[in-house]
Amino acid sequence: MKNHKILITGGAGYIGSHTVIKLLELGFSIVILDNFSNSTYRIIKKIKEITNKNFEIIKGDITDRRILKNIFKKYKIKSVIHFAGLKSVNESDKFPLSYYENNVIGSINLIKEMELANIKNLVFSSSATVYGNQNNHLYKEDAPLSPINTYGRTKLIIEEILRSICNIDPEWRAIIFRYFNPIGAHESGLIGDNPINCPNNLLPFICQVAIGKRKKLFVFGDDYPTSDGTGKRDYIHVEDLANAHALSINYFEKTNNSFSVFNLGTGKSFSVLEVIKAFEEATSIKIPYQIVKRRDGDVCESLADPSKAKLELGWEAKFDLKRMCIDSWRWQSINPKGI
Ligand code: NAD
Ligand code: WQD
Repeated sequence: MKNHKILITGGAGYIGSHTVIKLLELGFSIVILDNFSNSTYRIIKKIKEITNKNFEIIKGDITDRRILKNIFKKYKIKSVIHFAGLKSVNESDKFPLSYYENNVIGSINLIKEMELANIKNLVFSSSATVYGNQNNHLYKEDAPLSPINTYGRTKLIIEEILRSICNIDPEWRAIIFRYFNPIGAHESGLIGDNPINCPNNLLPFICQVAIGKRKKLFVFGDDYPTSDGTGKRDYIHVEDLANAHALSINYFEKTNNSFSVFNLGTGKSFSVLEVIKAFEEATSIKIPYQIVKRRDGDVCESLADPSKAKLELGWEAKFDLKRMCIDSWRWQSINPKGI
């Protein structure tokens, strides 16, 4: 494993940092490239504290081809795990050019420099957002793709670029992971979801209410056609995602498929009210909430069919919603202001 050097773009971010820890523990050799636009150098110290292992860290941007060229010249990289990207749905529709530039051009630069360096193993972080809003909410990987926001469109474009490259060059191995709703944190409580600005997602908001930073949670709509009227999602522990990335490195070696897509979810969905209840039960903290109108662009339900990942990758989610809430809360309570 020590000979298998992996470049991790966005490795200081939420999912990236958990994956780096997992890979270091497995003995892989790691180079992180991150511009710290949505993370902090302090995360790097935490990763070292948790693993007691060394790795390379480069501050730089994936839109800068010179940096990528230098990395591939300096290090004998065998595989790339590509997390770097902007991820706010709301922001993406306000600043579409920034999103296309950062996510799409950044990924094109990365893929081009990989080709020039003859490195052809890439794992790409895509999202359930590519499915958009469909009548059948249980998504298999071959469901129609129709993202309803700029962020989702950047993910779909990158998927399609990778599909085209794999079509013409069978030496390529591209693994597309479509994450559903990542929550939870490392069990040490030392790292977790650490948004630099205002959070976008449900669990960070719930945690901020629990810590007293916000008075109550706004629940966006109770008139969806679900059991209790609130939106349902397939929440997945970030540690389960990290495990999937570790398995992907073995998959490069064993698969004949050039281009592979996997849903990463639990196959169970929970409503907003069910998540609040699970959090309250897991932490014994009451979460006051108020129902407000639906949030623009929200879908009613999103649920993964994760059977392909189980069959082909040997991956399935281990952690349940209670554990996701406990770990999210441990992280938030140890780090009330983030790190
Ligand atoms: P994150 O923002 O915590 O991590 C992304 C990291 O990439 C950050 O450290 C940021 O500084 C870095 N980065 C951004 N643009 C960069 C650039 N141009 N050059 C170098 N570094 C750059 O996000 P995350 O939640 O860890 O998500 C990781 C990936 O997974 C993203 O591509 C995201 O779109 C995707 N994803 C996330 C979720 C989610 O809900 N968290 C769901 C589905 C998919
Ligand atoms: C979950 C549920 C909200 C906040 C987004 C992106 C997706 C992916 C994951 C990156 C919904 C409700 C939320 C609040 C609420 N990210 N909610 N009050 O919207 O499913 O997915 O993050 O790829 O692309 O779109 O996640 O956590 O924002 O919302 O009632 O304060 O919680 O309406 O039903 P979402 P979320």
